Amino acid sequence: MEIHKVPLGKTGISVPPLGIGAWSWGDRMFWGYGKGYDEADVRAAFDACLNAGINFFDTAEVYGLGQSEKMIGRFLQTERRPVQIATKFFPFPYRLTQGSFLRALRGSLRRLGVKSVDLYQVHQPISLMSNTALMGAMSKAVREGLIHGAGVSNYDLERTRQAAKALAAFGLPLASNQVSFSLLNKTPETSGLLSLCRELGVSVIAYSPLAMGMLSGRYTPASPPQDFRRGRYPSELLARLQTLLGLMREIGQTHGGRTTVQVALNWVMAKGAIPIPGVKNLHQAEDALGALGWQLSATEVAALDTASDLVRRQ
Ligand SMILES: NC(=O)c1ccc[n+]([C@@H]2O[C@H](COP(=O)([O-])OP(=O)(O)OC[C@H]3O[C@@H](n4cnc5c(N)ncnc54)[C@H](OP(=O)(O)O)[C@@H]3O)[C@@H](O)[C@H]2O)c1
Repeated sequence: MEIHKVPLGKTGISVPPLGIGAWSWGDRMFWGYGKGYDEADVRAAFDACLNAGINFFDTAEVYGLGQSEKMIGRFLQTERRPVQIATKFFPFPYRLTQGSFLRALRGSLRRLGVKSVDLYQVHQPISLMSNTALMGAMSKAVREGLIHGAGVSNYDLERTRQAAKALAAFGLPLASNQVSFSLLNKTPETSGLLSLCRELGVSVIAYSPLAMGMLSGRYTPASPPQDFRRGRYPSELLARLQTLLGLMREIGQTHGGRTTVQVALNWVMAKGAIPIPGVKNLHQAEDALGALGWQLSATEVAALDTASDLVRRQ
């Protein structure tokens, strides 16, 4: 299948319409890396994605306390095909200067074993560095050829506007804003963030597009997740979710037996965002890849919207 790339903001860079999230790669604290999946599983997922032309991976210096970047670095050592990497700067309160920003970036590049990354994102907006200082550091990193695109994450409307304005003063576009966006969290759409980003020409990268796995249909009130997700997705919510999952299965059937994962990701793409599902193994990678090459109709998107509003409103 041919992958039609999409622009990453106005950077001139293009990326696949779907990327892959690497938070769980090497992360023991949240995702239980080492129990149930290991590096061989992740490698199989990575290879399957590249074989399908999906070569855009999202990581962060804090994922697995650096292990996610290191694992990608190991994979890249034996990979000759082009791979696009997005990673993130965490604005810890002790990071007060542009020097500390560039040191953090160099740390990521070292772990990844690369000279530059396609996208560098400020992980979250709370920082003791000013917006101007942060974006100034981004522009320095672009000028030094360490990054190709400057992005943010978890920024609301006002902060997105400010980041775009600060970068524009350095002659750079804001590439993207990475936010939580799924059928279980439509805040970016209802708040007007999606429209604003469209207006500004900023890509929206959708994290947790499967609502941390809840939209896979694997978890039910009788069989809830047993880890950090349990508090976020209580049994009452999982019970209400079953109607939406039923509709997702029905719609998936009319598209040749697509799974709920594939419907969930296709819905995100229909909204104009780039989903980055987290996958831990070959099965999950292949499932996510099946979101490509077909499209939900406008009527189906509307029906999913109505059903998802019912899950969230009650
Ligand atoms: N910028 C930020 O602040 C931020 C925050 C969160 C995430 N992210 C990024 O977004 C990426 C994705 O988000 P996420 O990992 O939170 O959530 P997600 O993509 O919504 O869900 C990922 C989880 O769903 C389950 N899953 C995936 N495919 C499946 C399948 N085919 N069948 C059954 N279960 C499946 C897996 O967990 P189980 O197998 O354990 O159920 C997997 O770890 C992350 O890797 C990270 O790169 C960014």
